[in-house]
Amino acid sequence: MKLTSRARFSTICLHAGQEPDPSTGAIITPIYQTSTYVQEALGVHKGFEYARTQNPTRMALEGNVAAIEGGKAGFAFASGMAAIGAIATLLKSGDHVVVSDNTYGGTFRLFDKVLTRYQLSFSYVDTSDLGAVERAFTKTTRLLFVETPTNPVMRITDLRAAAELAHRHDVRLVVDNTFASPYVQRPIEFGADLVTHSTTKYLNGHSDSVGGVVIAQRDDDIEWLRFVQNAEGAILSPFDSWLVLRGTKTLPIRMQRHNENGQALAEFLAAHPKVQHVYYPGLPTHPQYELAKRQMRGFGGMLAFELGSLEAARRLLNTVKLHALAESLGGVETLISHPASMTHASVPPERRQEIGITDGLVRISAGIEDIEDLKDDLSRALDAV
Ligand SMILES: Cc1ncc(COP(=O)(O)O)c(C=O)c1O
Repeated sequence: MKLTSRARFSTICLHAGQEPDPSTGAIITPIYQTSTYVQEALGVHKGFEYARTQNPTRMALEGNVAAIEGGKAGFAFASGMAAIGAIATLLKSGDHVVVSDNTYGGTFRLFDKVLTRYQLSFSYVDTSDLGAVERAFTKTTRLLFVETPTNPVMRITDLRAAAELAHRHDVRLVVDNTFASPYVQRPIEFGADLVTHSTTKYLNGHSDSVGGVVIAQRDDDIEWLRFVQNAEGAILSPFDSWLVLRGTKTLPIRMQRHNENGQALAEFLAAHPKVQHVYYPGLPTHPQYELAKRQMRGFGGMLAFELGSLEAARRLLNTVKLHALAESLGGVETLISHPASMTHASVPPERRQEIGITDGLVRISAGIEDIEDLKDDLSRALDAV
């Protein structure tokens, strides 16, 4: 199952990082549920000593996601937050980071409540405005941490221009690619140095595992991340690695349907009289529609819409039946949520207002159900608003 250098995306998703199991020929990489490995003699072993440091199931996943993102190496962690925490260890006391202003609430919490205790500083900027990004850079800026599209108001950052700007200032570009997935967008192709995912979302895709990955391109980062993954030990378990590896096999066909359903729901909502505004990069009314078309393959399964008040949002959320009221995203089943009180509750209310996360904003992670059933469900719920 050797991949040629010309292998295309779907083939890479299915096969990269995996070989038939050497002991049985099993086509699927087994779950190596072991804590240690027996050595043949003192100092003689098969390259596996202890399972925090090396695990064949995790290593298969790491090779797989590295190839999927077009990076040199991948590292799998116990959660998306653990992956972002590992990236933060590239920083030293005194360093500064520029971050997308409506980044995932948990990322903001880690930066603002934990990492500021270690003499690290963060500036939150609308990274879709690269002039503002450049003005925020200081002599101590080391990372530009970007989410695009942003959660939940779907602002887009021009990744190629962001990478050029960052590199001119000797800053690394880090992209949290969770929201788009690598089917829709591959930041390393645009010049990103590091890509991270919560594999909990599209990469695993089945809402049954929590995990994270970092994909790196620079040799010094790869060396450091390998060291830190072992030193801090926040590794992804063999079973979760196996689940995500199974998930990435179907990433392309799942994403095609997520894209279709996301687009169809955005168009349906945009035409509905009770909806004041729809945030989706695949609508020509999106201010960065042209950039999204250049940078993304399809526009993803995430969208948000404004109903005008908390009461309207509450009625809708309490009436839908097929849309499951839940945090998270990127699974095969459609989820609906209220960012202000759920995913972004840890963001102070004034900042939420600035970003556009109002009390009337509702977010959808479009799953892969039949689109007509999703529209019927929303239509019924909107009648109750
Ligand atoms: C964009 C983004 N990044 C990171 C995370 C954190 O991932 P995890 O929940 O797997 O720790 C999330 C979780 O929702 C997310 O949406």
